[in-house]
Amino acid sequence: MTKITIGVAGAGAMGSGIAQVAASAGHQVILYDTQQQTIGNALSMIKTSLQKLAAKGRLKESADEVLERIKPAQKLNEFAGTAFFIEAVIENLAIKKSLLSEVQRVTGTNCILASNTSSLSIAALSSGCPHPSRVLGTHFFNPPVLMKLVEIIPGIRTEESVLHESTGLIRSWNKLTVQAKDTPGFIVNRIARPFYGEAIRILEEGIASASTIDHAMKSLAGFKMGPFELMDFIGNDVNYTVTETVWKQLFYDPRYKPSQTQRRLAEAGMLGYKTGEGFYKYVDQTAVVPPPSDNIQLLRKIVLRILVMLINEAADALYLRIASKDDIEIAMTSGVNYPKGLLKWADEIGIDKVVDELLKLKEWYNEERYRPSVLLRKMAESNKTFFN
Ligand SMILES: NC(=O)c1ccc[n+]([C@@H]2O[C@H](COP(=O)([O-])OP(=O)(O)OC[C@H]3O[C@@H](n4cnc5c(N)ncnc54)[C@H](O)[C@@H]3O)[C@@H](O)[C@H]2O)c1
Repeated sequence: MTKITIGVAGAGAMGSGIAQVAASAGHQVILYDTQQQTIGNALSMIKTSLQKLAAKGRLKESADEVLERIKPAQKLNEFAGTAFFIEAVIENLAIKKSLLSEVQRVTGTNCILASNTSSLSIAALSSGCPHPSRVLGTHFFNPPVLMKLVEIIPGIRTEESVLHESTGLIRSWNKLTVQAKDTPGFIVNRIARPFYGEAIRILEEGIASASTIDHAMKSLAGFKMGPFELMDFIGNDVNYTVTETVWKQLFYDPRYKPSQTQRRLAEAGMLGYKTGEGFYKYVDQTAVVPPPSDNIQLLRKIVLRILVMLINEAADALYLRIASKDDIEIAMTSGVNYPKGLLKWADEIGIDKVVDELLKLKEWYNEERYRPSVLLRKMAESNKTFFN
């Protein structure tokens, strides 16, 4: 069976990875960027990546055979024959909106248009298109070649058949898909906020140092990276912007409030690993980590506080029908490599204990930030668990 042709706009970190994934799955790919130089760089990065995969025996054909399927484009009308188009251009509503509508004028209704946006609404992005019912979100994680998860986000106008076809197509690329409502941060970027925010809050209050908090989350809870290592790795500019965007779009709900501490780091250019200094200093690209505390009571307290805040987010996402129970678990374990699904974790800790802990924090701080999800309160009252 001949495979459909895939269009990709934006040949940066995400677009080039997505082009590689689609070409590896046997599709012809048309890759476009406003910067010709970027396309050239993308093609050589893809070649290196394919050669590495081939050397490990993870390609069914040669790197060149896959690469030959990716054709650079100079004009948008070259997308005319594509049946599925993904934009991964810079995160700017006006630019993405105008690109999608221009591409849809070229492709007509034969093509499904997808956006890889991390934070913009699919409703807004598709609103300039002549056929918004053929637009949806497909949120890949970085790097797209290695990360299995893709969040699929139907917009308010997306046709059921478009959702169905897109999900099938992306699954055929050996990806794990979850479906999310068109809400700020979708699943992962919403539920993960307290991993960073609550950790910074504990630091700001002087309860524990960054290295102690990281140590607690890794050694007791099993996370691969602690919150501060991870923020430094993602970049304090990028991480701060995601938090601020989610907070603003959720109408300034205090639960998502960004922190001054991280804002100052971003303002000072202390972006983390990439600038050599963030929460930690980096010498020879390795973090200089001050010795953490080994006070087990303190470590347990840190883990419980961050975990109940994460569980609260996961429960609320379920309560607000942002995603299904299973998709929430898959998203957090595959998108950000959490050691366990948060709802399963809630069952293990005990829903009543999670609610008690949140209520204690709420009473102590008198802040809305700690309000327990209605779903958790109802479940605690009726002794229910998420899974049997
Ligand atoms: N980097 C991540 O971790 C990550 C993860 C998930 C989603 N995303 C999302 O993916 C998208 C791309 O992110 P990125 O990190 O690859 O960015 P990037 O800056 O690496 O690449 C963006 C590319 O878009 C090009 N571009 C700008 N305007 C264009 C236009 N009108 N037409 C065609 N190309 C244009 C730029 O030249 C650049 O090459 C964003 O929406 C971002 O939010 C990023």
